Amino acid sequence: MKRIIKTALAAACLATASTSWAAAPAASTDKTPFKIGLILPMTGPFASTGKQINTAVELFTKQNGDTVDGRKVQVILRDDGGLQPENTKRIAQEMVVQDKVNVLAGFGLTPLAFAAAPVATQAKVPMIVMSAATSSIVKKSPYIVRTSLTLPQVTAPLADWAAKTAKIKTVITFVTDYAPGHDAEKVFVHEFTKNGGKILESIRVPLQNPDFAPYLQRVKDAKPDAMFVFVPSGPGSELMKQFKDKGLAKAGIRLIGDGDVLDDDLLPHMGDEVAGIVTSHHYSAAHDSPENKAYVAAFEKFDGNKYRPNFMSVGGYDGMHLIYAALKKAGPTATGDQLLAAMKGMHWESPRGPISIDPQTRDIIQNVYLRRAEKINGQYWNVEFKTFHDVKDPGVPD
Ligand code: PHB
Repeated sequence: MKRIIKTALAAACLATASTSWAAAPAASTDKTPFKIGLILPMTGPFASTGKQINTAVELFTKQNGDTVDGRKVQVILRDDGGLQPENTKRIAQEMVVQDKVNVLAGFGLTPLAFAAAPVATQAKVPMIVMSAATSSIVKKSPYIVRTSLTLPQVTAPLADWAAKTAKIKTVITFVTDYAPGHDAEKVFVHEFTKNGGKILESIRVPLQNPDFAPYLQRVKDAKPDAMFVFVPSGPGSELMKQFKDKGLAKAGIRLIGDGDVLDDDLLPHMGDEVAGIVTSHHYSAAHDSPENKAYVAAFEKFDGNKYRPNFMSVGGYDGMHLIYAALKKAGPTATGDQLLAAMKGMHWESPRGPISIDPQTRDIIQNVYLRRAEKINGQYWNVEFKTFHDVKDPGVPD
């Protein structure tokens, strides 16, 4: 496993900083750096998640400097490969014991966050979940704070809209077969049927190397009004391609879903099969705010215009904001418990809109948006058309 220690970035890079983290009324007496142990899938099928989050973490550091109140901040990045929870747990243990990190961060997928949670509890180290999105994650350790999303949070508003506004009567749910997919399915079924909709079937597809074709054939044969989709960030392009090739749209079946399927990381390379598709999510690169316009421009410039920032990137960017703000508030020599206390109830303006950390659950409270895929200047974007304000995780029905 390759270890990359990121070191100081010159103060000259601070031009775009919006908050002065470094201005130090009380300079730190602690000469050891404040260490953030960042564990991400940098290789394997979910490497796009690691790449997006790591770029955002580097961008945040470039914009805000690597010192908070006189204490040097060091990010230690390690790759867990994405699919082996035991690996993630071992890396978290090594980071706590050998590197003596002050905060753990990252966690690309739910099983990896589950695996690392006991390490955070035992070490009394805050664990910032920047990506994983199963509702129950925050219950796995009192040291977990989440800056990503929860599947119930983004799914419930879509199910409501589908039944009440889009007048969709019958749905087949189509989710990846692991914890966040189960959350999405249960919440969609609950909300949609509560509002008079009918579920014809609930299909679960494997997490690893999914071949969507046979499952899509089943959907086509059953002819629902719509197929509700959750797949994690990554396989969305392949699903959309097969949805088109199998002729589901031509058969009159509408696709709706959580925003992960039309991930901004993939969307610029997708074709007209995505035109008009409605999804719900907490972040779109097309979000119309000055903060987001500045973020997208800075991200694209920083990574040499290779890719568009997606929702994973804002989870990383806001996770860094949370850590810096907590360190600033609790002081440069703060313990894990003091940092955690500082994080609870914190609120700020993110590129995604206003966000806060629920002081009781340590989960993120944020706006959820309905978006429609539209072509603008030759590329598709998720254009937001309805906002649900300050949505908390509603949890999962039994
Ligand atoms: C998760 O494993 O919790 C997860 C990963 C990627 C997503 C959503 C959820 O896009």
